[in-house]
Parts: sequence; C-alpha cells; structure tokens
Amino acid sequence: MKSCNLRLIKFLTLSLIAIAILLLLFIYSGLYPMGADTPHNKFTYWALETLRDRSVARAASNIKVPENISSSERLLRGGPDYNEMCVSCHLSPGKSETDFTKGLYPSPPNLTEIPETAFTKAQHDQRRFWIIKHGIKASGMPSWAPGHDDQRIWDMVAFLKKLPELSPEQYQILTSRDAENSSHAH
Ligand code: HEC
Repeated sequence: MKSCNLRLIKFLTLSLIAIAILLLLFIYSGLYPMGADTPHNKFTYWALETLRDRSVARAASNIKVPENISSSERLLRGGPDYNEMCVSCHLSPGKSETDFTKGLYPSPPNLTEIPETAFTKAQHDQRRFWIIKHGIKASGMPSWAPGHDDQRIWDMVAFLKKLPELSPEQYQILTSRDAENSSHAH
C-alpha cells in the first residue's frame, strides 16, 4: 500500500515537471501569435478575461463612491476630459467606430452604450474609477493616474454615467471647455 502511494507521488511529480518543461518550451518556441489581428483561442481568452474581471472586482471593492457623483459640476468637468482623452477609443454618440476600435485587441468597449452587466450601479462606478486610474495591463487602456488626481477621475466616471443618454448635439455642448468654464463662473 505504502509503495503504491510512493509510486503515485513519483508519477505525479514527474508529470508536473514534464508539463512545466513543455510549457516553457512552448513559450520559448515563439509559436504563440501575438499580433492584435489574431484573436486569442477560447481558453486563453477565458483565462485573461477571468483574470482581469476577478482582479478588478477585488481591487475596486472597497473604493468609496463620492456622494455627489451625479452632480452637474462633475458632469461638466468630466465631459471635456472625456472628449480630449478617451473619445478616440471609446466613441461618442453617433460614432460607431474609429481606427482604434477596429485595430485594438481587446477592442475598447463602446462607452456610449448602456453596458450589459450584472453589476450594481455603485459597483460599476467603483470598477470604472479603478480602471481609469490604474489602466489594464496588456491592453490599450492606459493608467490615467499620472497627471490626473482622484477628483478628476471621478468627474470622468460621472460623465460616463450620463454618456449613453446623450444625443450628438448634447454631447457637443457638454464636452466643450466653454460649458465647463461657465459652470465655474456660477
Ligand atoms: C488607446 C485606447 C484607449 C484610450 C485612449 C482609453 N481607453 Fe479605456 N479602454 C481601452 C481598452 C482596450 C479597454 C478594454 C480593456 C480590456 O478589456 O482588457 C478599455 C477599458 C475601459 C473601461 C472599462 C470598461 C468596462 O466596463 O469594462 C473604462 C471605464 C475606460 N476604458 C475608460 C476610459 C476613459 C475614461 C478614458 C479617457 C480618460 C479611456 N478609457 C481612454 C482603451 C482605451
């Protein structure tokens, strides 16, 4: 009985070492396609999606959403920033694609659409804040923390809440720096 257990342990250990060696050989072989125009296979896609979603959910879970997240001041401050820094990848009302949405992999989500998710509104805001602040590794999504403090990032989260409801005209008004300046004046 004992020697049987020992043999099993030996077999498992050797199998694990063999798998590790095969994996290393595969990584060094250069066979995995890294071009953005070749989608991941189903397993890699699932693994990366799950890794990202679980990691963001965990990191964002304790973030406190400001009480005035729906205020018009935040909306007016967030709009011009969105238009200057995000629109080329995340689109605006009436625009359905850009070179970035066509060429990036993963493709940037269209933030003018109401997202289909199981998240509550607060979880959604927490996630968005975290993603805008820290970015997402190995995707086109940059971290915006350098040069933008937390308040400025919350302003963009506030704008994103309103974005799916805007017409192209409303978008233009809300994202002009004039709208932002007149809100400061009052
Ligand atoms: C160069 C392209 C690019 C720019 C510019 C960019 N993003 Fe992104 N963004 C992405 C990509 C790609 C993803 C998806 C990453 C992934 O799925 O792994 C993403 C994801 C996101 C998400 C998560 C969406 C979700 O619910 O899963 C938010 C929110 C976001 N970006 C907001 C912004 C904001 C705000 C800006 C401007 C300050 C911005 N992004 C600028 C490419 C970009």
